Amino acid sequence: MPTQEAQKHAFVAPVKSYDLNEWQRGYESLKQEFDYWIDDVEGQIPPELNGTLFRNGPGLLDINGQRIHHPFDGDGMIVRVTFQNGRAHFCNRFVRTTGYLEEQQAGKILYRGVFGTKKPGGWLNNAFDFKLKNIANTNVIYWGNKLLALWEAAEPYRLDPYTLETLGQEYFDGILSEGEAFGAHPRFDPHSKLDGGAPCLVNFSIKPGLSTTITIFELSPAGKVVRKHACTVPGFAFIHDFAITPNYCILFQNPVTFNPIPFVLGMRGAAECIKFQSQRPTRIIIIPRQPKQKQIKILETYCGFVFHHANAFEQDREIIIDSICYKSLPEVEPESDFRKVNFDALDPGQIWRFHLNLQNHTVQQQLLESRHCEFPNLHPQKVGHSYRYIYVAAASASHGSAPLQAFLKIDLHSGKQQFWSAAPHGFVGEPVFVPRSNAQQEDDGWILALVYDGANHRSDVVILDARELHQGPIARLHLKHHIPYGLHGNFTSEVFLPRN
Ligand SMILES: [Fe+2]
Repeated sequence: MPTQEAQKHAFVAPVKSYDLNEWQRGYESLKQEFDYWIDDVEGQIPPELNGTLFRNGPGLLDINGQRIHHPFDGDGMIVRVTFQNGRAHFCNRFVRTTGYLEEQQAGKILYRGVFGTKKPGGWLNNAFDFKLKNIANTNVIYWGNKLLALWEAAEPYRLDPYTLETLGQEYFDGILSEGEAFGAHPRFDPHSKLDGGAPCLVNFSIKPGLSTTITIFELSPAGKVVRKHACTVPGFAFIHDFAITPNYCILFQNPVTFNPIPFVLGMRGAAECIKFQSQRPTRIIIIPRQPKQKQIKILETYCGFVFHHANAFEQDREIIIDSICYKSLPEVEPESDFRKVNFDALDPGQIWRFHLNLQNHTVQQQLLESRHCEFPNLHPQKVGHSYRYIYVAAASASHGSAPLQAFLKIDLHSGKQQFWSAAPHGFVGEPVFVPRSNAQQEDDGWILALVYDGANHRSDVVILDARELHQGPIARLHLKHHIPYGLHGNFTSEVFLPRN
């Protein structure tokens, strides 16, 4: 019998909210393409919810059995869920990029991936091959009557919103050149000050090197590029997302270095050559949206690594920006298997608020939420403006890193929270807030999301009432199959269904 002292020090493993094997199966490829009305529904689809949810993400985690090294290298697959009069229709299609078509025809990996996927044949067969495969897998937007699949290192691919047929690359009337980057995280300004209050799509692109060129694009509701201007900042930059206010674009230049040699020699993917520098500050780059105002500001702070921002707004002489920060960024190792990730060894993504003082160039920061979370979302009319509610996908446990299994709503005014967890078998994707038409309150609407059901190896589309998020889904739409964990998407009030 153990002594009292031994009992006191006995290690008690915390009960995990998930089973790693179940989580892993959410990363199986979905090779089939479907098109059907969803009949297996628990609860009720609100009849006043009409429109289309588009979502993008890696659909293939292998090419004919050859595993890709990281999900971020997976070919983009568009998921479309259309809501009409209390019913919902499902459709998924791969973006038929040049690389996708070539590899499907060859039945093997033909391209190196940014996140470490290698062609068969070892490093000798990969060295000095700098061909980039545009995988179009990160986001999908409907803007200017065009459905566009986005990947941050190359031009968008355009699809037919009715059939999801790939129509080819999009160059915006020659504004983009072949292979030119167009970011995967555009922001939709609901009332652009520079356009008399009309909506505007704002995006950026990065051309990294010893110094980095940042290009800002602004598109009218008709999809025309109305402003495009560039600036150069010192140093290498890895910037995935940004935020906007009526007057500014704000980008966080993460503290990283890039050593190209293992990439050149075929031993690592480009992203595997990025090294996080914990001792160095993050540089916050503030670019005026008005192209005539050339003066950019760069502020510094220590905040770890940032992939995603929730929102930003101007208040007095400050810009306030809410971002998800990781204390460190683990390197993607060439021999590692992402399916065997040790979540306990990772830092959680936590929401921080930054006050950027434009007068004295200081930064103040405060922790808003310590629970691990990702994929922030908000009311689309509040983008760039003071807002009250933030929605995120979150870990089920309040501490540490873990798969995303829950949704969290934070009232930024009162600090109150609502929380619903799909654990132990559910693994959630990005929550998309859809306002109810004619709503008076900021949270009067729904949260739409995909949830992988690990117990049944299939996915659900869930609908939650955003006012009562803690009550859980008001409808669960059971799909006939699973959908691999995805990335980003958007809702449009237009109803896209197959043409008869
Ligand atoms: Fe993202």
